[in-house]
Parts: sequence; C-alpha cells; structure tokens
Amino acid sequence: MANTFETVGVVGLGTMGAGIAEVFARAGIAVVGVETDPGALERGRGHLEGSTGRALSRGRLTEAEQAAILGRVAFTTSLEDLADCDLVVEAVPEVMDFKRALFTDLDRVCKPSAVLATNTSSLSVTAIAATTTRPGRVVGMHFFNPAPVMRLVEVVRTVTTEDGLADEVAGLARRLGKTPVTVADRAGFVVNRLLLPYLNHAAVLLEHGLSTRDDIDTAMRLGAGFPMGPFALLDLIGLDTSHEICEALFQESRERRHAPAPVLRELVTAGLLGRKSGRGFFHGEEPPANPSSEEKPSASTVAVLGGTAGNGTGAAEGAAEAFAARLSAAGFKTAPVEDADLVVAVSRTPVIEQAVRLPHPERLVGLNLVGDQVAEVASTVLTSPGAAQVARGLLRILGRTPVSCRDRAGFVVGALLHPHLNDAVRMYESGYASMEDIDTAMRLGCGYPAGPFEMLDRLGLEAVRDGLRALYAEYRDPSFTPAPLLDRLVTAGVRSIRDLSS
Ligand SMILES: NC(=O)c1ccc[n+]([C@@H]2O[C@H](COP(=O)([O-])OP(=O)(O)OC[C@H]3O[C@@H](n4cnc5c(N)ncnc54)[C@H](O)[C@@H]3O)[C@@H](O)[C@H]2O)c1
Repeated sequence: MANTFETVGVVGLGTMGAGIAEVFARAGIAVVGVETDPGALERGRGHLEGSTGRALSRGRLTEAEQAAILGRVAFTTSLEDLADCDLVVEAVPEVMDFKRALFTDLDRVCKPSAVLATNTSSLSVTAIAATTTRPGRVVGMHFFNPAPVMRLVEVVRTVTTEDGLADEVAGLARRLGKTPVTVADRAGFVVNRLLLPYLNHAAVLLEHGLSTRDDIDTAMRLGAGFPMGPFALLDLIGLDTSHEICEALFQESRERRHAPAPVLRELVTAGLLGRKSGRGFFHGEEPPANPSSEEKPSASTVAVLGGTAGNGTGAAEGAAEAFAARLSAAGFKTAPVEDADLVVAVSRTPVIEQAVRLPHPERLVGLNLVGDQVAEVASTVLTSPGAAQVARGLLRILGRTPVSCRDRAGFVVGALLHPHLNDAVRMYESGYASMEDIDTAMRLGCGYPAGPFEMLDRLGLEAVRDGLRALYAEYRDPSFTPAPLLDRLVTAGVRSIRDLSS
C-alpha cells in the first residue's frame, strides 16, 4: 500500500533541516524535529520562527497560518520520539561517520515500515543505507537551499532501494509543491555533478591568470546569463562544501576536471570559507553589480580586422564589418591597420597569429562579442596595457561591458561554458538522467534561465563542438573532448539536440 507520509521526522535543524521541517509543516504534515541538545534545538526553533516570520511580514503568510505551521512541529532532543514517523529526513553535517552512526540509531528506533532519507549533497547514499537493516527503505532526498523557496528535490535511489519507493518519495515531493528529479546514486547527483566542475574550472582559470575574479563573474552573468558569477556562487555555497563535493567527484571519476583547484584548498585551510566566514574569494564586500567604468579611451584611430586564417569565417567578417560600422557611428575614426592607434581583431579564437603579422603588434587586441551585453577583450603577450585599456573604454562607449582576458582558446565564456554543456551531454549519454530532467534540475536548482540542452540548441551544436575542440587543442585535457554524441549530431547535420528526446 502506498505510504501516506502523515508524520515526518527531521534530524538536524540547521540551515537545511529547519527549512525542510518548514516545507513539510507548510504542506500540513506533522513534523518531529530532532537536535542534539537544548541549545541547538532552540536555534532550530529560531530558524523556523525567523523564516515564517519573514513570510508573515512580506504578506505571504497570515498569523493564523504561521501559528498552524509552527504548531505542526514538535521539537525534541530524543531520537526515540521518531518511533511513529513514516519518513525521517536526516540533515546533520556532511560527515560520513556522523551519518552512518545516525542511520544505525534511526534503524533501531524507527518502525520497520519507515522510510529513511538523507539530504546529503555528496556522500554515497548506498554506503549510508548499508549501515541499516533496511537498505531497501533508504533513499536520498536532496533539497536545495533555502528549502522553503527552491523547488527542486533530487530523489536518489540506490541499487538496494525497493522498487517503487523512489516514485512514492517523488510523489511526496510533489505534494510539498516541489519538482522531483529521480536519479541513481552517483557523487553529486545531477546539479552538483554538473555545477561544481564548472565552478572549480573557474577557480583553475583564475589561477592560470586567464582573467580576474570580477571579470570572470561578469562574463558568466552578463555573457552566459547565469544568475551569479562562479566566484560569488562559490562563496555562497561555501568553499569547504565546494571543496568536499569536488573531492567526492574526483574520488569517483579520477578526472582532472574534478580535482579541487589548489586555491580552494588554500582558502579553506586559511579558514576563508566564503560568506559564512565573511571572506572567501570576496573579502566581505558585495560582488560588483556594475563593474567600474574607469577607462577613458584616447585612441584617435581604430582599425577593425576579421577572424584569423582558418577561422576567418564569413560570420567573423560580418561581425567585424558590423563592429566597424558601430564605431564610425559612435564618432570613432577608422584607419588602415598600419596607421591605427588601436587594432581590434574581431574573433572567437586567439589572435596572436594576426598580431605577429602587424607592424605594431602591441596595438592589437582580440574582441569577442558575447550576447548583447559583453565584449571579451583578449590581450596577447605582445599587447600593450594601454591598448587593452583603450579598448575597454571604447567598448563601454558602445554600450558593452568589457571583460579582459588572455589570448586563450574560448576566452572566458567559451572556456567555461562549453565544457559545462559538454558535461551535461556526457551525463545524458551515460544514461544517468534524461535531457528534460537535467534541464529542469539546472533551471530549478541553480536558477539558470535555460537548461544546458536549451543553451546548446541556442548556441548551436557545431559552435559548441568547435569550441571544445579548440579547448582540447589548447589544454590537451581529455575532459574537453566533445562528447561522442555531440560530434555525431554535428556530423549528421542535426540542429537540435532536444529532438532526440521527443
Ligand atoms: N547548506 C546547504 O546549502 C546544503 C544544501 C543541500 C544539502 N545540504 C546538506 O544538508 C546537510 C546539512 O547541512 P546544513 O548546511 O544544514 O548543516 P548545518 O551545520 O547548518 O546543520 C546541521 C545541524 O545538525 C545538527 N546535528 C549534528 N549532529 C546531529 C545529530 N546526531 N542529531 C541531531 N542533530 C544533529 C547540528 O546541531 C546542526 O544544527 C548536509 O548533509 C549537507 O551536505 C546542505
């Protein structure tokens, strides 16, 4: 008989547990909230009162509704009080020994039919289940922070989970107003398995000196359309948590892409954990909403070139012509390459080959227009700092936010976004999750305006495949090789990867 989940236990009323308890109570379900000691229990109660109090002050709850929600939660420090619960969700710290000890105790105190769920982000649900005498009744139920707000719940079934149980838990998630995505037990599930390698890659590129923290964040927000830049997001997630998730991914995959960036280890060791400790990549200040506009262009004449040989496609030539026309319209004087103070090579690929053919290579910058807001300004080893600065100022006048970077394949947005999308294709190709589930998980779990497969279709499969090939040629990292499926689709002339799923 299907479980009706009338009484639910939540163990650990910290950041996640208090939110999870609120979610159940809001859905009319009786909750037993457990903490280790009276002090922690009061803090947990405080989280719940604070969160529902904010909803009350914003007019999203009435006083009666708030009272009813809080009235459904019983607070206790005794695990024995979970004896009658139909489901217990564990949200204690992300330490395997804590979880295993707790599940052994839960197995002892909970009735045999009870479902035991863990909210772990990166630990093996299978290993946690194995500490109980009922591994068939154990699942992952991964909520996102803040639990009352975020709609996604990843439901994780292990090889030992009873048939049908994950569906019942997914049904419960829907009853809570959430959107469940059900997957097998692999490190990071869908969201963290895709998100963390991308964030880690941003940290690696920062260490390589590709660009600055602020320019990388700006590029991904305004260029890729992500709600936050990778460094602001790493600070929000917590650098310790991010490091742990990367480590868990690496232990499973042994992929270089998953090996935590050394800067993460260093910051964590120094106690700089991000927002929770007041300093991480950012020093307590808010990430700049609008990067500074210090540059004043002083170039009297500008020359515009198209893409490099072999990549000088008609599209690049067209983009160069359109850019030159915009410059003229904005009052800038153009000049032949030999005479111009600034040479702008409009290109999606590195521009050093063009620079070395010029009489004044120090005057050349690469320019890649990303979307309608960002312009990547690539400096070669020969570019003078003055030329790059002038280019930034000029782009601001044209209404673009400049992002400075070194002359490397993919510049910033391509270097980060293409492997991220490739990871999603590989995940789908491995049979781990459907395209719809991956798109849903990334939209609801990360606030992406579009899922990875929607982005792939918009950017063009061939452009992404070519971007990956260029990255592989540059860095020789096997994880940048295009997923075989992506390659095959381009070869077959298929334009929309999502056609496969319909
Ligand atoms: N914070 C996030 O953004 C986030 C998001 C998704 C999942 N998670 C996962 O949720 C879990 C909890 O994370 P958190 O950020 O809420 O941690 P937290 O440190 O804020 O809260 C953990 C709580 O558990 C309590 N606790 C510890 N041992 C206990 C025990 N044996 N019995 C009862 N209570 C106990 C602690 O007193 C504390 O209040 C972790 O597995 C984490 O990976 C966290």
